[in-house]
Amino acid sequence: MKYATILVFGLLLSVILLTEKKQQEKKQKQKKLELKKAELCTEAKCKLPDCRCSGVVLPKQKFKGKEQEIPQIVTVTFDDAVNAVNYAQYELLFEGLVNPDNCSAAATFFLSHEYTDYVRVNALYNEGHEIALHSVTHGDGTDYWREANVSTIEQEFGDQLTILEAFAKVDPKSVHGMRLPFLQISGNNTFQAAKNLGLTYDSSWPTQQHTNPPMWPYTLDYLSSQDCQIGPCPTASFPGMWVDPMVTWTDTEGYKCSMFDACVYPPEDNVDVLFEWMLENFNRHYKGNRAPFGIYLHAAWFARGANHFAALKKFLNHLTTMPDVYLTSISRMLEYVRNPSLGKPFKSCEEKPKSTCEPFSCNVQKLSTGEERYMSVCDKCPEVYPWLGNPLGKHQ
Ligand SMILES: *[C@@H]1O[C@H](CO)[C@@H](O)[C@H](O)[C@H]1NC(C)=O
Ligand SMILES: *[C@@H]1O[C@H](CO)[C@@H](O)[C@H](O)[C@H]1NC(C)=O
Ligand SMILES: *[C@@H]1O[C@H](CO)[C@@H](O)[C@H](O)[C@H]1NC(C)=O
Ligand SMILES: [Zn+2]
Repeated sequence: MKYATILVFGLLLSVILLTEKKQQEKKQKQKKLELKKAELCTEAKCKLPDCRCSGVVLPKQKFKGKEQEIPQIVTVTFDDAVNAVNYAQYELLFEGLVNPDNCSAAATFFLSHEYTDYVRVNALYNEGHEIALHSVTHGDGTDYWREANVSTIEQEFGDQLTILEAFAKVDPKSVHGMRLPFLQISGNNTFQAAKNLGLTYDSSWPTQQHTNPPMWPYTLDYLSSQDCQIGPCPTASFPGMWVDPMVTWTDTEGYKCSMFDACVYPPEDNVDVLFEWMLENFNRHYKGNRAPFGIYLHAAWFARGANHFAALKKFLNHLTTMPDVYLTSISRMLEYVRNPSLGKPFKSCEEKPKSTCEPFSCNVQKLSTGEERYMSVCDKCPEVYPWLGNPLGKHQ
């Protein structure tokens, strides 16, 4: 009798304790989901390397008066699929480009999935270029991305990361950044998803107001002072999450363009005219506060005119003859911003990955439409065409 009572009491007690514990856990989870509102940034509260206010116009206050000793970093980025045609252009564009520290010049590729050749992605990766994320489906227009919730964004970018790891042999630990298709962010959701995926930066947010002096990258610990061109923009605090603002270019009529293939009034198709126009945009950074200069493009731009490729090549060649200009990936540039110095920006060259890839050409079915898709992958063909929700392309 006694034992039974104790047993019953004991059981009751443990049930009560368990439910209490569960409720506490539930409360904690809800707390985690509630985002903290971002407050105004002050440099006293927000310090490098992990925090940087958006309004600060120099990497360090004490660089004032020494702007010409700040290394000028240039980030070249390409969005969308890498295929055999544009891969050949990328190879030619970067051939022979070496920075003043003798490290090879590098770009950042924001990859979406459809029509991407993953064997070529593996090659770009091994050459030292940065591989970053641009979603699986690229979406159906801006509404899809503006209204996307955290789980949709997380799946679009997380699945693309899984695809890159499986089929291009890219180490997921080397993938740090994202760019939203159409540059369409969805307020807090985009950055919450980026955080959940372990990413450290987003480069989707154009600025038209902060071009002179141009804006430096900053973190979202505190409220951003950047103009919100393609909202909604985030108002919650995301500690340690970097924004690489897309500082716009100015076209020949004074209109601003976030990616210069979107300029309304581009210069005529002439190598020297295009070159001079690029130089003009560059000099706003180079002769000013030396904020990183972004060259944001789609490969389709090369087909706009017979001289477009040659003009960009001439411009990049010119930049690498300058003793204080460095062409590097966004994540490498952010390393510098976290830990800025005058003179040389980096202590050593970045080690290139040695990722082996046995190329396979696959002919697989895209289940959502029934179409056949050719796919070029490393090591092993998927069973069906990889897609959102099935990044490894398994029979379902
Ligand atoms: C973003 O999060 C902040 C802080 O919780 C909140 O005040 C704001 O309303 C959120 N924005 C949207 C669009 O949900
Ligand atoms: C880079 O290499 C060139 C030629 O090999 C050499 O003359 C130069 O001193 C090197 N520069 C640096 C910074 O190592
Ligand atoms: C997010 O959006 C998708 C697509 O609209 C929807 O199916 C899903 O239920 C939503 N998830 C959450 C957690 O709201
Ligand atoms: Zn795109």
